[in-house]
Amino acid sequence: MRFYSETLGLPDSAFTLLRELIREKTGIFYEDGKKDILCDKLSPLVLEKGFNSFLDYYYFLKYDEESYREWERVFDVLSVPETYFWREIDQINALINVIVPEHHKDRKEEPLRIWSAACATGEEPLTIAIEINETGWFERLNIEINGTDASRKSIEKAREGLYRDRSFRNIPQDIKEKYFLKQGNMFKITEDIHKRVKFSVANLLETHKIYDLAASHVIFCRNVFIYFSENVIRKIVRFFFERMPSPGYLFVGAAESLLKITSDFQLKEIGGALCYVK
Ligand SMILES: C[S@@+](CC[C@H](N)C(=O)[O-])C[C@H]1O[C@@H](n2cnc3c(N)ncnc32)[C@H](O)[C@@H]1O
Repeated sequence: MRFYSETLGLPDSAFTLLRELIREKTGIFYEDGKKDILCDKLSPLVLEKGFNSFLDYYYFLKYDEESYREWERVFDVLSVPETYFWREIDQINALINVIVPEHHKDRKEEPLRIWSAACATGEEPLTIAIEINETGWFERLNIEINGTDASRKSIEKAREGLYRDRSFRNIPQDIKEKYFLKQGNMFKITEDIHKRVKFSVANLLETHKIYDLAASHVIFCRNVFIYFSENVIRKIVRFFFERMPSPGYLFVGAAESLLKITSDFQLKEIGGALCYVK
């Protein structure tokens, strides 16, 4: 197998410039040992643009007025859209068994806003919608679910609602049969659940774009902070804290901890799952 890095070298100086720019724009940080990975991911884009060095590509990304279009492509190639239905379901059970009933008890008139903040191809917010539907909460409470991701390609797939086998590795069989229709070798989410989730493109680092979303009662921001540096996570979490109502509930992935990052939120066990509570 031939790697692009063999044809287009990424000198250390260009790597340092590029990774800082990428960190600023996307939050994703490439450590020293990951230079080759970045090189392989970006090389096709550099060549397609007609540049023959990473440094030229860096200047284009940094200074060209049209570079915002290219950044969408950068997000698409850097994105790790690994996700599946029923992932870390304990947290979603806590939402259904504790947070939703409490909201209903205390603030029935206020729509409950749930945001899946880096939803990749949509399995996470759709799991939430299915669980809410299963427990009949859509009939009793006005619930808004948003799913966003910085990768346009992923959001287009989420809007399509077609999934392959690998997305179903954890889902109960009866749920799969009830909510998905076979289409060729893929499965389509039923329309009534699909339309419960509003999908859009949003970069977590562009605070003006997530200003309204961050005012959600519940934020699922799972398995994305693992790619970010501490400073970037701190900024995003601080912004969530400022915008969220109280009580507000922030769920991060099982492999992620905010203990060194924030003392704003309190880490609590809710319905058997860990949650950062405002
Ligand atoms: C591993 S997936 C997590 C999906 C889902 N939350 C889960 O836990 O199954 C990580 C997602 O984060 C997205 N992402 C990376 N940087 C982002 C940013 N700055 N803003 C929004 N999404 C971002 C990627 O595009 C990718 O789809």
